[in-house]
Amino acid sequence: MPSRFYTWLDSRLRLQPVQETLLDEPIPGGASWIYVFGSATLFLFVLQAITGMFLAVYYAPTPDHAYDSIQFIEQHVAFGGFVRGLHHWGASAMVVAIGLHMLQTFLYGAYKPPRELMWMVGVGLFLLVMAFAFTGYLLPWDQTAYWATQIGINMVGTIPLVGEFLMRVMRGGDQLGALTLSRFFAVHVLFLPASLVLLVAAHLFILRRVGPAGPWTDRRAELRQEPFYPRQVYMDAVVMLGVFLIVAALAVAVPLPLTDKADPSDTSFVPVPEWYFLFYYELLKYVHGPLEPLATWVLPLLVVLIMLLWPFIDQNPSRHPVKRPIALSAGALFLLVVFSLLGVSISSLYAVPRVDPAVARGKALYAQFGCAGCHRIHGEGGAVAPDLSFVGDTRPDREWHLKHFRDPQSVSPGSFMPKFPLDDQQLNDLTSYMLSLKK
Ligand code: HEC
Repeated sequence: MPSRFYTWLDSRLRLQPVQETLLDEPIPGGASWIYVFGSATLFLFVLQAITGMFLAVYYAPTPDHAYDSIQFIEQHVAFGGFVRGLHHWGASAMVVAIGLHMLQTFLYGAYKPPRELMWMVGVGLFLLVMAFAFTGYLLPWDQTAYWATQIGINMVGTIPLVGEFLMRVMRGGDQLGALTLSRFFAVHVLFLPASLVLLVAAHLFILRRVGPAGPWTDRRAELRQEPFYPRQVYMDAVVMLGVFLIVAALAVAVPLPLTDKADPSDTSFVPVPEWYFLFYYELLKYVHGPLEPLATWVLPLLVVLIMLLWPFIDQNPSRHPVKRPIALSAGALFLLVVFSLLGVSISSLYAVPRVDPAVARGKALYAQFGCAGCHRIHGEGGAVAPDLSFVGDTRPDREWHLKHFRDPQSVSPGSFMPKFPLDDQQLNDLTSYMLSLKK
């Protein structure tokens, strides 16, 4: 029984037809948990929009103030850290949600006629989400932001003919600076949201025109029809709540990264991109020299084109996974490559911080000065001088090493170890390496 308030409102706004278009859309085969990813993505976009609006209240898009304004949000604004956390983790969650949504669409062959346009608009939405992630990454204006963006822009520069021009457009000049930050900000908060809203509208419009695809066999689709409301709405709502709780828990529990303020003169800084760009970052490590453009633009462009045109490339009329071995193998192979690269990248990232840079430099010096000509470490090198495999345990004293390196004979009379021409930095690095050689 409709409430009296509803009846009152309905007689003024004529809600009945609206409710019918919004909620009575038939779902072939009935409601299912597998259809929730699209609305989860949409929900996350709304969350990003709302948290983004609140962040914009305090954020200042200039090199002088951006970093400080983020710190201010974190430290002085009520719930500032939480809202920034929601926005940060919401972005990650959005990538996951849209990825799952695409995976489901792919698996169910839901991109096949008559839904090719819906798929293509969806690929456009995916690219917009990536553009959001890329532009948003620069905004905190910390070291990682600055140098990761530098890498991204330089990659665009490798495109022949237009690369140089695009690079200037992105930077707003010859260098990454104030103009870059303000245009990234404008793109992130104005251009991209507007484009995204348009494409979402187109996506949903097409969905309403052709209807959802439903199960992969027509027989099962015809067996049962069920309106969008109430069961699918309920499932979508449960998932939205779950997604929100996860994002909120991450925002509370995981402290957000903010490296030092961006320093354009510190070219030694090695940035690490967000996890969803890591697989690509890993790929870039393997291609050098003349092959580089292959990874920086040929391959990405090719992947995007294939994704976009996939409904026309895949001519197999069947939607049943078992009858689409080629498409599914291609998809599985693609995911395998992406996730292997991601795995390798993550494991090497975790390996890196354990090595102190001084130790790494010391190790390089050890090789450069040919210490292995006399010394042995873990079975490698000469045997005329003491084995250094565990010298960090037997000689834990830093001063001793410094003195010994300056003049071996001063601490070991009669030593034939040469005096190496080492400056203070090299002395320190070599000593750090010696001290790191422990059981
Ligand atoms: C020509 C052979 C020779 C070369 C090359 C050489 N050493 Fe030595 N090193 C010795 C000898 C002999 C000793 C033992 C006497 C001493 O303590 O000076 C020694 C001792 C050491 C010790 C002390 C080990 C201990 O347990 O007491 C360290 C540390 C060391 N060397 C590091 C290095 C490093 C690092 C290099 C390269 C920059 C290097 N050595 C190059 C011959 C060499």
